[in-house]
Amino acid sequence: MNKFLEMPCAPTIGIAPLTTGDPAYAPARVQALFDAMAPTYGFAPWLSGGMLGRWRQQLVDALHLPAENQPVQVVDLMAGGADLWPALRRCLGCSLHLTAVDFSAAMLARASRHAAGSRLALHPADALATGLPAGQAHLVTSTFGLKTLAPAAYPALAHEAARLLQPGGQLALLEVVLPTRGWLRRLLHAYLALLIPLVQRLCPAAAVHAALAGYLRRGSDPGQLRHALRQAGFGKLRQQRLWPGCAVLLTAELTSAR
Ligand SMILES: C[S@@+](CC[C@H](N)C(=O)[O-])C[C@H]1O[C@@H](n2cnc3c(N)ncnc32)[C@H](O)[C@@H]1O
Repeated sequence: MNKFLEMPCAPTIGIAPLTTGDPAYAPARVQALFDAMAPTYGFAPWLSGGMLGRWRQQLVDALHLPAENQPVQVVDLMAGGADLWPALRRCLGCSLHLTAVDFSAAMLARASRHAAGSRLALHPADALATGLPAGQAHLVTSTFGLKTLAPAAYPALAHEAARLLQPGGQLALLEVVLPTRGWLRRLLHAYLALLIPLVQRLCPAAAVHAALAGYLRRGSDPGQLRHALRQAGFGKLRQQRLWPGCAVLLTAELTSAR
């Protein structure tokens, strides 16, 4: 087992300072939130009615993967417990070499359930400055980490992804978004309003998940993210809404030199 899995609490890792006035996005606050959420993060798939797993699979299906039997180096930023591993592994088999980057030790420790051996490396670091070698990755991915990242941090994220990728490498980002209007927005607001008190009552340890609803309501900013990606050298940007319309998948290719 990776030595990091045995660590009981967060190591001291360099985290970029707050780049926005909103304290909700302070990195230390987000890290503490996910440290607290880690023991009950396993509830997330059923709280989402299975949609999180389905959307992760759709991200993998959207990738252009290198020819079979070649090692494929993937860096997953804000990886949690390497939650993207099962979908990537189904697609890439033994070719998959995944580095899971996260600043929450408790979230990363959940990756032990994959029993993935040396093909899964856990890297405790800030996703905005990973310290991983430049130009090695075929793919950089990130699923459901954007909501707790201030839009002011998007340029740093885009530059770090560009630094990690080989020329022509792919980026795929996935996040839940509340639609700005319509029946789905009303339904999701009603769902969150009902779900949170229910979860708090049934399992007080999971009450911390309520904070995520606040980040969802703040929303991420795909337009600003696309701008940051272009500035960092990404092209072939493609943004799609995934069914039923409350997840956004953004894919791009590193087209110009860093
Ligand atoms: C909602 S979880 C998503 C986990 C996983 N990717 C998934 O598909 O479920 C967001 C994760 O991003 C991590 N995170 C947020 N901001 C980060 C940052 N700046 N650097 C590293 N990890 C970060 C949190 O610790 C948390 O594990």
